[in-house]
Amino acid sequence: MAQLLITGGAGFIGSHTCLVLLEAGHDLVVLDDFSNSSPESLKRVRQLANLEGSSPRLQVVEGDIRSKSDLRKGFRAGKGIDAVIHFAGLKAVGESVREPLRYWDVNVAGSQSLLSVMQEENCRTLAFSSSATLYGLPERVPVTEADPVQPINPYGFTKAAVEQMLEDLSSSEQGWRIARLRYFNPVGAHPSGQIGEDPNGIPNNLFPFVSQVAVGRRQELKVFGNDWPTPDGTGVRDYIHVMDLAEGHLAAIQHLMEQRPQLLTVNLGSGQGHSVLEVVQAFEKASSRPVAYQLVERRPGDAATTVADPSLANRLLGWQTKRSLAEICRDGWSWQSQNPEGYRGS
Ligand code: NAD
Ligand code: UFG
Repeated sequence: MAQLLITGGAGFIGSHTCLVLLEAGHDLVVLDDFSNSSPESLKRVRQLANLEGSSPRLQVVEGDIRSKSDLRKGFRAGKGIDAVIHFAGLKAVGESVREPLRYWDVNVAGSQSLLSVMQEENCRTLAFSSSATLYGLPERVPVTEADPVQPINPYGFTKAAVEQMLEDLSSSEQGWRIARLRYFNPVGAHPSGQIGEDPNGIPNNLFPFVSQVAVGRRQELKVFGNDWPTPDGTGVRDYIHVMDLAEGHLAAIQHLMEQRPQLLTVNLGSGQGHSVLEVVQAFEKASSRPVAYQLVERRPGDAATTVADPSLANRLLGWQTKRSLAEICRDGWSWQSQNPEGYRGS
């Protein structure tokens, strides 16, 4: 079993992945500055994994990835870090348009500082949270890893820049084992409803917005366009259950540690598309609550349809999604209904 450093491990995808990694027997050091998360998520991960509060299997270092001394603290907290999963970063498209320098600083400079400290510490195994956002407005669907990288917003450019940095690094020096994991639309929650997505303020994304309407925190969803070239006219996306995504990280890290050094680039998606109205209907069914909505103008920068071709991940990692949209909504509702105010309510 390995010891892993998880940057951003208290966040939405990080917390679910920590649980899956602990259950698989790995020991973890989480480095997070809690700028977009709460230590409560990790407390709950400990409970779900049946760990004592002081268990050395999950250590937490509060720190910033842009600070090399914080990163060194993360490395020193362990007995010897074998690999890193790098979730820490900023992810809101609109905010990235308003504050591009902050996005380049945290996402790009932060990743660069992490990679320098990994070099110093002689740790060369890394899984990086990339995003389908770097495909921009895809020319065809399903999207394969060979399709052009053509971001259309600063957030997407920062992900593309880090992907390039990783490619340059792995060609400059032998021994790097790197996975660039391009997530599609991560949603849902752990089936216990104890951990889940806890956005700050008004959610930008469909799924948390729909759950907050169902629980009564928001009045109605605005559906951005019903004139898209899709079966019901609303946008189609590849929604992936966050537990499937977490299992994808376990598969990727195991693959990297077992196989020869390599640079791997894989889509993590289900290969299935669902429209906005399908998500609304599935959520109403799972929650037995109405989700009021209003049809409004298209949102600038949106694509009609984005769906992954996940066959490479299946072939290389033996991974594929197992959970349906109905399960996504069931688990998302379990989290939202038990934690209507997210972690702030605890
Ligand atoms: P999240 O905001 O819930 O988690 C990110 C975590 O990183 C948070 O705990 C935050 O406190 C921490 N963090 C932010 N800046 C930091 C810094 N400077 N130093 C240390 N910690 C810092 O987001 P998430 O949804 O879990 O996303 C995780 C990663 O996956 C991000 O890199 C994101 O860009 C990427 N991603 C997310 C999605 C999505 O839709 N959720 C899709 C594709 C890719
Ligand atoms: N939508 C609405 N109303 C809302 C929010 C969204 O109708 O209030 C629609 C969108 O127009 C789109 C679909 O719901 O058709 C999904 O939108 P999201 O904002 O949930 O997701 P996106 O696919 O636009 O983008 C998200 C992240 C990106 C990331 C991408 C793939 O915001 O950063 O998933 O991972 F790159």
